[in-house]
Amino acid sequence: MDYQFSETQLMIQQTARQFAQEELAPSVDERDEKEEFPQEAVKKMGELGFMGMMVPERYGGAGLDTISYVLALEEIGKVDASACVIMSVNNSLVCWGLDAYGTEGQKQGYLVDLASGKKLGAFALSEPEAGSDATNQRTTARRDGEFYVLNGTKNFITNGANADIVLVIAATDRSKGAKGVSTFIVEKGTPGFSVAKKERKLGIRSSDTVSMVFEDCRVPAMNRIGEEGFGIRFALKTLDGGRIGIAAQALAIAEASLEASIKYSQERKAFDQPIANLQAIQFKLAEMATNIEAARGLTLNAAALKDQNKPFGAMAAMAKLLTSRVAVQCALEAVQIHGGYGYIREYKVERFLRDSKITEIYEGTSEIQRIVISRALLQS
Ligand code: CAA
Repeated sequence: MDYQFSETQLMIQQTARQFAQEELAPSVDERDEKEEFPQEAVKKMGELGFMGMMVPERYGGAGLDTISYVLALEEIGKVDASACVIMSVNNSLVCWGLDAYGTEGQKQGYLVDLASGKKLGAFALSEPEAGSDATNQRTTARRDGEFYVLNGTKNFITNGANADIVLVIAATDRSKGAKGVSTFIVEKGTPGFSVAKKERKLGIRSSDTVSMVFEDCRVPAMNRIGEEGFGIRFALKTLDGGRIGIAAQALAIAEASLEASIKYSQERKAFDQPIANLQAIQFKLAEMATNIEAARGLTLNAAALKDQNKPFGAMAAMAKLLTSRVAVQCALEAVQIHGGYGYIREYKVERFLRDSKITEIYEGTSEIQRIVISRALLQS
């Protein structure tokens, strides 16, 4: 479909494609194997303006729109889904919230470095007992003069081991439930804050996922984002935008699976002909391409709504729901088309399958997306 992208959007897409091919592609499999964070590549992504794409230039960002962001994530995710989620978390879950709700001091003190890629951010909402049930926050933040004292554990935190700055969601008044939760900016190195267990994962293995522990961690009160009690709304609003980023990541994995399948089916011969001549393969390719087009349309639609300042939460949830399903289906089909070669590490489709599954889980499982979508339907 012709989306009539602007010259700027096409330029961003081209820059991201070139960066992914030159900087990520040569070492992506090795990083996956070694579970190694792409330090150098992330630094270069910052220099290219990819770490704070939608942040105004005066706060260190690239001042671009959400469509450009999706196009860049798509190109990067086609090559390296781990680099893609590192970028998505910094942009959508950290920079966006600081830009939208931070004070001028918080923007100058933290956003400028995060958006320009000098520092990396993480978003700490999930806990052992607060995953889908995000409002059930057990981490506490007790006010003590000009500080808050944080205690508790966060888990499954993307970027956590490498992050310089973490947005931590914590209960300031547990008796108030979802209305008693707030958000704090916590710097790496703050006494009482430590990174604990690093998870060993099925996919996106070069993106780090860790637990965080807060033990009497004193955070200046001026590091609270918004009013006390704003934390859950802050987190859920932030996640509305984050889901566009994950949809773009899923889309990228689906597209990479299709591209690999087209190439392989034209090269691989069976029964004296390329397997692309067989309807069994052709129908799979047709199905994959059709689903990708639909998923891409939804993702860009959610991005366009956000750019037009229209309600986009339900559309973002739809985009993530469909696109993540398409990613898993396309990666599975790619493995099937590659046969035995699809199951071994020499061919990338094995990684695409491993990387795809998480898109149905993080930033809200597919079941949570259905809750968000159905609530929007029943409210209107
Ligand atoms: N924007 C702003 N506010 C919102 C909102 C939104 N999209 N959705 C709900 N709210 C508000 C509600 O109005 C309510 O506020 P009030 O009490 O002031 O009215 C408050 O938030 C709580 O909402 P609910 O009463 O609807 O809460 P709930 O418990 O019934 O359900 C939920 C909420 C939709 C299930 C939510 O918990 C949810 O989205 N869960 C999934 C969490 C998630 O996506 N986690 C991802 C972790 S981060 C991550 O994965 C990053 C990574 O690694 C890459």
